[in-house]
Amino acid sequence: MKKKVLIIGSGGREHALAWKLSQSSQIGKLFVAPGNGGTRHIAENIGIDAINIDELVLFTKSNEIDLTVVGPDDPLARGIVDAFQAQGLRIFGPTRTAAEIEWSKAFAKNLMSEAGIPTAAFEIFNEYDKALAHVRTRGAPIVVKASGLALGKGVYVCNTLAQAETALAEIMLDHVHKDAGKEVVIEEFLDGQEISIHAFCDGKTHVLLPPAQDHKPIHDNDTGKNTGGMGTIAPVSWVSAHALQDIDEHIVRPTLHALAQRERQFSGLLYPGLKMTTSGPKVVEFNARFGDPETQSYMRLLKTDLLDILEACVDGTLAKLTIEWHSGFAACIVIASGGYPDKYKKGLSLRGITDAEHVPGVVVFHAGTTFDGELKTSGGRVLGVTAIGNTLHDALDRAYEAVELIEFEGKQYRKDIGAKAL
Ligand code: AMP
Ligand code: GLY
Repeated sequence: MKKKVLIIGSGGREHALAWKLSQSSQIGKLFVAPGNGGTRHIAENIGIDAINIDELVLFTKSNEIDLTVVGPDDPLARGIVDAFQAQGLRIFGPTRTAAEIEWSKAFAKNLMSEAGIPTAAFEIFNEYDKALAHVRTRGAPIVVKASGLALGKGVYVCNTLAQAETALAEIMLDHVHKDAGKEVVIEEFLDGQEISIHAFCDGKTHVLLPPAQDHKPIHDNDTGKNTGGMGTIAPVSWVSAHALQDIDEHIVRPTLHALAQRERQFSGLLYPGLKMTTSGPKVVEFNARFGDPETQSYMRLLKTDLLDILEACVDGTLAKLTIEWHSGFAACIVIASGGYPDKYKKGLSLRGITDAEHVPGVVVFHAGTTFDGELKTSGGRVLGVTAIGNTLHDALDRAYEAVELIEFEGKQYRKDIGAKAL
């Protein structure tokens, strides 16, 4: 019997997951809720928001969906996995309490400090005056974070004391991140290159994906405001097999163990963001879901049927599965709306995607696009242009050739994705 799968979310990550699943001979029908202008070509877009858990449960039951896959963090933090499991529905992702490792930075920091997992030195504050006194004692550089989920915008890397004071005022006095800023984590600035580690987890065992690298700031040379991510490469060849093993032993394994000890067995995808410092890898943050745009690069390299992996995570049979990857490299260049991550226009016409996909090795994943008789922009990150190649150089050349064929008013992208790894 062919299977019906529902993917929750509307970004480039979800398009990439749908693209990979659509190649599985086991799939009968794919649904994406709510999806985007790209997912409509390979799946049926369902007009239900990713956080409308009651409606998603009803849809899943009435359409006899075999497996639901959660993309974004928000539904996880709201307990979508618990709600589905309570109804006997199969769903890929961690429970609400396991996902707390992402939705509360204070929880994650305390867990790491109790379990001896390397991370930046930190203090947690609920009161503005005490937080302010702390940053004044510490001085800059210093990092100020809203503890809760803040659309990737709750982290302030401050090079001056004045920036840190402004950050605290925004979070704790002006409440720009609402309840996500009730608690604040203030931590040591970590220097070094950033990498993304991903692990498939089934609650008992886990398997690492190849290392990836995202590029968070909006402008070249890692300048400007932080975004959701402007481009990725995978694998990162300077991260040796030995270094990856070390990360597994000192970070991933003890984290999963610490969660299990607290009755929060983690099933789904665990994604620690790391800084490779001179004193070894240290955790910057944990995510309880696939990275976006890491997934866009990963899905181009994955050889194994993704459905088999996701089902093994849900069923606790990961130990029996061998996960295979294509050789070579993948790159993803995000094309964003002009003005992003601040205000930007929507509803702009897009041209050139078909031409871009004629470049060898290129697949364009949609993120902030919508179709209303014509394809239009609808979000900050609009497209993820991916390419594979035998070398990282080839993959990047192809991706950039394709990026230049796509046009919409005000488009912006980083010109230096992957440059640090060449
Ligand atoms: P997060 O949302 O926690 O991943 O933080 C967003 C970005 O801020 C990270 O990807 C890092 O580039 C940067 N960042 C977070 N914490 C630190 C830190 N302690 N030291 C240096 N950079 C950091
Ligand atoms: N790649 C950044 C994120 O998914 O959080």
